[in-house]
Amino acid sequence: MLNLYQFARPLVFSMDPEQAHQVTLKALRTVPLPTCGVTRSEKLTQDLWGLRFPNPVGVAAGFDKNAEVVGPVLRMGFGFAEAGTVTPNPQDGNPRPRIFREPSSRAVINRMGFPNKGALVFRENIEKFRHALTRPEGIVGINIGMNKDQVDPAHDYCALIRSLGPLADYLVVNISSPNTPGLRDLQHKDALAALLERMRKEREVSCDADNPPPLLIKLAPDLSEEQQADIAEVLLGGNVDGIVLTNTTLERPESLPERFRSEKGGLSGAPLKDKSTAIIRSFYRLTKGKLPIIGVGGVSCAADAYEKIRAGASLVQVYSGLIYEGPAIAGAMNRGLLELMARDGLDHISQAKGLDVSGKA
Ligand SMILES: Cc1cc2nc3c(=O)[nH]c(=O)nc-3n(C[C@H](O)[C@H](O)[C@H](O)COP(=O)(O)O)c2cc1C
Repeated sequence: MLNLYQFARPLVFSMDPEQAHQVTLKALRTVPLPTCGVTRSEKLTQDLWGLRFPNPVGVAAGFDKNAEVVGPVLRMGFGFAEAGTVTPNPQDGNPRPRIFREPSSRAVINRMGFPNKGALVFRENIEKFRHALTRPEGIVGINIGMNKDQVDPAHDYCALIRSLGPLADYLVVNISSPNTPGLRDLQHKDALAALLERMRKEREVSCDADNPPPLLIKLAPDLSEEQQADIAEVLLGGNVDGIVLTNTTLERPESLPERFRSEKGGLSGAPLKDKSTAIIRSFYRLTKGKLPIIGVGGVSCAADAYEKIRAGASLVQVYSGLIYEGPAIAGAMNRGLLELMARDGLDHISQAKGLDVSGKA
């Protein structure tokens, strides 16, 4: 298949990363994409939380903060799109520049700080998508966060569950962005248990009682073994339905060029890959495979995705990989997954889940 991104990439990379992103979003809103990369196979289709995922490859949060391009993202061949992070009120985020690429390492650093147009605009966009005459197949998750000046985080998360929960196929509570002061503290055991309890109650009253959106939690990769064990214990308490692993890291591997490593923010892309896979493996073990995991961090090809699934993920997401590889990544990854499954004699993608953890491989 002709990969048009080959030609567009030099232009995209000649622009400031955030400007390039704005141009990409505008193009997606206005120019219909050819859907030639879509791969369909029953072997890749999964039912999770009562939702049918046409394939296991999705786009991670942060790409479509205001839910403006959910339809085009699904038309690229992704099985699901996670829009957000959205906060109740609009906010500007941190001063620019705040996204930095390092192509030779396939890495990105961002310190965006949740710039977004707020819940009202987000809601209008999602409603427009839901009511469109022709809707692409695929699942839409909503990733929620708190405003920078909020002193009671649960207040913002509950407000968003109220206003956006009924429109979400699934909800992700983002407590792991490194760019909102205090946010990661919510990963501490007691704070997390209290937050999850309040959110579960809010979901009970504001969402369809028979069919509430599953509540997932997105965690950082920078958690000690003790923190992981504490969190797993809270998660097994029953107030959460799944885990997104992981957000960006504060770590800076020595191999990265000094100029790039000194930028503040969260690191994503290839240098995050093994770290996030290790956390997936650890949580899969700690939770005994009871909570579905969405694996994210440095995935840019089928082999990376397969590795995350074999570590215990049911689904995977990409963000930095999309920047470097372009939209054909969705179809290429799904086709590659089918090849890897055939190599290993697997009839369905779910059979690969946790293979490297349980030792069945
Ligand atoms: C520019 C940028 C913005 C991001 N914004 C968000 C965000 O708003 N919410 C969130 O949960 N994750 C956000 N992320 C993190 C990604 O969703 C993902 O967890 C992380 O980048 C690791 O995946 P990757 O290596 O495929 O990029 C952002 C990442 C990047 C690069």
